[in-house]
Amino acid sequence: MTKKKKLKGFIMKKITVIGAGNVGATCANVIAHKDLAREVVLVDIKEGVAEGKALDIWQTSSINNFSTRVTGVTNDYLKTKGSGVIVITSGIPRKPGMSRDDLIKTNASIVKEVTEKSIRYSPDAIIIIVSNPLDVMTYAAYKAANKISKKVFGMAGILDTGRYRAFLANALDVSPKDIHAMLMGGHGDSMVPLRRYTSVAGIPITELLNDEELDAIDERTKKGGGELVNLMGTSAWYAPGAAAAQMVEAIVDDQKRIYPVCAYLNGEYGLKDIYMGVPVILGKEGVEEVIELKLNTREKEMVKESAKSIKEVIGVLDKMKLF
Ligand code: NAI
Ligand code: 2OP
Repeated sequence: MTKKKKLKGFIMKKITVIGAGNVGATCANVIAHKDLAREVVLVDIKEGVAEGKALDIWQTSSINNFSTRVTGVTNDYLKTKGSGVIVITSGIPRKPGMSRDDLIKTNASIVKEVTEKSIRYSPDAIIIIVSNPLDVMTYAAYKAANKISKKVFGMAGILDTGRYRAFLANALDVSPKDIHAMLMGGHGDSMVPLRRYTSVAGIPITELLNDEELDAIDERTKKGGGELVNLMGTSAWYAPGAAAAQMVEAIVDDQKRIYPVCAYLNGEYGLKDIYMGVPVILGKEGVEEVIELKLNTREKEMVKESAKSIKEVIGVLDKMKLF
């Protein structure tokens, strides 16, 4: 069998991951393991880093049994040409004492630059943002990409519900696989875990844990990123990288999965011109539908507060006059 024939089965030709740091390299590694495309291209600004990490990942292909080619380039966007999905992780991560919002000044310029460069070669690509502060960086990429909003969105909700489900699994001593959870709002301390929409094998979580136990888990989830920053001196990467790859998978395989995604709101939940975490249907078109949950008064209030804090950071972005 020729090489060409062997690789013919892939639906997607190319996926690009910008930023070959902790999150980007992990994401590319998971994409390759899942064989989601014929090729995954890692791009970084630091000479040799993307090339080296790509080569290292590719050398696991025979061990881990995948065929997706993994290549790395230093700032050469021509190599990303024709990508179906672009994941943007470039930027600086949080250090102890920094909030996600502290990152805005550096990361907004980086996100703008890499979005513009990458869509030049892949005008039809779906763009997934990971860089922080997530909700506002996704908004910045939307402005830079000049695309319809369903093709530009951000990853945070899968990570945050991943943390929530992990903590619930610990508390109940059950498999996280049986826990379904939903969470809304910004990727920060104002996020809103939704216990009314959380269940274990169909059993409402409120029947299994009391308010005090659930409050403690909500709090740990909201501060989940900070917990890891304090432990490691930089932010997390295994779960963020895997979460971004799961979104890529839903798109590539047109899975119509329902995930919390940082999506553009144009009237949904009474909010306009904002990116925020909401449940969506994710498929080959990107965000194919924003699902409007029937929130109660308390949940609505918390979501409104979260949106308010995102709008404040959008105000900081506006003052930078990048767009
Ligand atoms: P990292 O420092 O390990 O990697 C970032 C990479 O971006 C570096 O290799 C750097 O050289 C590269 N880079 C910087 N400017 C670039 C440019 N103009 N073009 C191409 N590459 C460029 O950081 P890490 O841990 O991978 O985090 C990446 C971003 O993701 C951070 O902003 C972090 O806060 C965010 N993050 C977001 C999460 C989420 O849930 N949305 C979760 C975890 C991290
Ligand atoms: C995280 O939640 C810091 O956004 C990063 O791990």
